Amino acid sequence: MENLNSILAKYGWGKMALIPILQDLQEEYGWLSEELLDEVAQRLRVSSSEIFSMVTFYKSFRLKPVGKYLITVCLGTACHVRGAPDVLDEIKRRSGIKDGETTKDNLFTLETVNCVGACALGPIVIVNDEYHGLMSKVKVEKLIDQLYEKNQ
Ligand code: FES
Repeated sequence: MENLNSILAKYGWGKMALIPILQDLQEEYGWLSEELLDEVAQRLRVSSSEIFSMVTFYKSFRLKPVGKYLITVCLGTACHVRGAPDVLDEIKRRSGIKDGETTKDNLFTLETVNCVGACALGPIVIVNDEYHGLMSKVKVEKLIDQLYEKNQ
């Protein structure tokens, strides 16, 4: 929990900074486990239920482990009209998972968001921190195949 200490120290151990603290922790660990949230609650002297209601309110917090590749599909208006639903369907078909799920082999986690600020390049798919613009069913199929091949 060394990283937890440094993140809490960065925000002065203040409960007013709960959201940025939780964002930093998610960045560090990839997701927010119940154990981690309990630890934060204890250290900041807030109730576990207060933290839990916060992390369930904001869709951006992840309460389950993520796969090796976090695939984020933008479903904002610009991406939507340019074919993002078809791209999403193809990812679901290839991976066998739905939005918010992780494959059994922990290779992929799929999530959707509304606009990542790169509308001109839509539809956008982000794999971990790498942006892939102007995606289509064919391009995303190749992308998924490449990720599978890398991990055989
Ligand atoms: S709508 Fe997808 S990046 Fe803006």
